[in-house]
Amino acid sequence: MAHRENHPGNDAGFIMAYEDSADRVPVLWIHGFPLNNTMWDFQIAGLAHMARSITPDLRGHGATEPTATTPYTMGLLADDCLRLLDHLDCSGPVVVAGLSMGGYVALELCRRAPERVMGLILAATKATPDSEAGKAARDESARVAATEGVAAIVEGLLPKMFAPRTYEQDPELVSFLRDMMLGTTPEGMVGALAAMRDRPDSTLDLPSFTMPALVIHGEDDQLIPPAEAEATVAALPSAELVLVPDAGHMLNLEQPERFDEAVRAFLDAFYEA
Ligand code: MLT
Repeated sequence: MAHRENHPGNDAGFIMAYEDSADRVPVLWIHGFPLNNTMWDFQIAGLAHMARSITPDLRGHGATEPTATTPYTMGLLADDCLRLLDHLDCSGPVVVAGLSMGGYVALELCRRAPERVMGLILAATKATPDSEAGKAARDESARVAATEGVAAIVEGLLPKMFAPRTYEQDPELVSFLRDMMLGTTPEGMVGALAAMRDRPDSTLDLPSFTMPALVIHGEDDQLIPPAEAEATVAALPSAELVLVPDAGHMLNLEQPERFDEAVRAFLDAFYEA
């Protein structure tokens, strides 16, 4: 996608070659809980030739400071992303990609501003809301994060973030994710847990999300079963399902080539259109 042109500002009479990622499909990548935007590093590099990647850290996660606003809501987090797009002069539609909690934010973004979403990538996520037991577990996790600190949550959650095989056989990846999780502030964790607890049921909205969608899920996801992805695809008007073998919840890290291949095929369609 390199350009060569005698652009209007170039009065020296020669043709200059340049690249500008502005001509690539903009992709807003929204991370999961309790993670940050470095979870997308492999995708940013692998898809750089076709995606302008925008990767926010949500409130209290990564390099974004927590806010005193309580509780956080999916609406608040989706608005944060929309404001970031405005700030970057990205007023046209973008592809929105979210993993797990990032998927919940992505669904909220579709609800609030469908005209800003030209494509939707839902990874390791679900449209159903929390059960009553699930809501109670969020409250208990928030209590633990606030009183004992983030490490107590991280150690309990970490093994479930991967396929059992990845967890046993890839200590480097496990330690990379542990460090990422430990970088989350307690306030960010508590805020995100409340936002997830109170998120609305998106299942009834799915038929109205008519943009092309890619639903991608690890076959060995221990946190969100693949059946959730199957149900999401069945309810979306224009979605395809990719199930990734030998991958758990963090499928983009566990099987990055397979993940990128699916995303590449999905993004290709925007260049053909
Ligand atoms: C995530 O990975 O973002 C969370 O585990 C999602 C959830 O707890 O529902």
